[in-house]
This record gives sequence, C-alpha cells and structure tokens, in this order.
Amino acid sequence: MEQLLSALHWIERQTHTRTNHAQMLVGQEEGLYLRDFVMQNNCRRVLEIGTFTGYSLACLADGAKTLGGRVDAIEINKELDYIIEEGLQRAGVSEIVKVHYGDALEILPSIAEEYDLVFIDADKRQYPQYYELVLPLVKPGGYILADNVTWYGRTSSHTDAKSSGISSFNQMVESDRRVESHLVDIRDGLYVIRRK
Ligand SMILES: C[S@@+](CC[C@H](N)C(=O)[O-])C[C@H]1O[C@@H](n2cnc3c(N)ncnc32)[C@H](O)[C@@H]1O
Repeated sequence: MEQLLSALHWIERQTHTRTNHAQMLVGQEEGLYLRDFVMQNNCRRVLEIGTFTGYSLACLADGAKTLGGRVDAIEINKELDYIIEEGLQRAGVSEIVKVHYGDALEILPSIAEEYDLVFIDADKRQYPQYYELVLPLVKPGGYILADNVTWYGRTSSHTDAKSSGISSFNQMVESDRRVESHLVDIRDGLYVIRRK
C-alpha cells in the first residue's frame, strides 16, 4: 500500500506540473475505492477506458496484482505515456498492465477478451457507445464502473454534448434489463453496473 500511495503522489505531482487538467484525476478516495472494489469482487481481468496519466490505472492494477490478475487500458493521447509508464513502475505493477494507445471506439471491437471489470472514464459524449461495446466483453456477474455520472449536477439542466452523453448513458443503464445497477456517491458519482 505504501508503494502505491507514493506512486499516486508522484503521478499527481507530475500531472499538476505537466498538464492543465489535474481535475481529471479520480483522486485518492475514489482511486482506493476502485482498488478495494477489484479485490473484494475478485476482479482478475480488468479493462480501463480513459487512462490520462495513469492514476486510476495504478489503483486498479494494484488491486488486480494481489489476485494474480492483469489489466488492459485504452488511452487516445500518447503524449503523456512517459508519466503512465513511470507511474506504473513506481507502483510496482508494470508487468501486469498493457496500455493500448488509440481510440477506444476503434480498439474495443477488436478485443477478444472477457473481463470481470471495465472502468469507463473517457470522453463523456461517447459513454453510450463505450457501454454497448464493452457490455458483451463483461463476464456474466462481472461489472462496469462508470465515472462522473452525476456530471456535477448538469445532466438535467444542460444540453451540451457532454451532459447529453452522460444523460443518455444513465437512461440506457436504467432501462437495460441485461444489468442491475446502483449509484455510489463518491466524487462526481460512480455507477456500479453488474451484468446479470
Ligand atoms: C477523465 S480522463 C481519465 C482520468 C483517469 N481515469 C484517472 O483518473 O487517472 C479521460 C481520458 O480519456 C481519454 N480519452 C478521451 N476519448 C477517448 C477515446 N475515444 N479513447 C480512449 N481514450 C479517450 C482522454 O485523452 C483522457 O486522458
């Protein structure tokens, strides 16, 4: 745990110094929630969509490592790969993580794997498309966790593309009989979706 916390501290500092988007990090409370979720639900195969500088990825991978698991991740922006790579090394999880650089909408259809957990945290406008693409990859009884689903309270009052994307996604999940779901009140809202 000490090694993970030290790596997270390093990733956070690098993100503040080298990007203007540190608010995108899930932060320590949610990061450790993700790690515990992986361990408590025995999620040995994990996929992340939207990695940024690797903060949530290090948390997911630290949980999966305790189970002898592996983690795949998809990130469209390769410019920050040096932070992801060093962060994973510092966390001691490099050997169980594979990062795919490219557009998740193009990469997901070519993935022939089954996952116990998929964490969605990429472009809010594309949440409905990610959902339809990943649900068949989730094992029955497995989970999708989707971040930012309360979208700072904007889903009912705003009509911009990101608010509409999240709003459509939430409606899809609520009416989808293939899954059961509940909302966890952590940071900006985390949807826990279980495939039946
Ligand atoms: C909110 S940030 C992720 C934060 C990260 N999960 C964390 O907490 O450490 C969203 C990331 O999704 C990436 N992204 C956006 N659209 C994407 C796409 N179509 N495919 C893959 N990654 C995408 C962005 O480049 C950005 O780095």
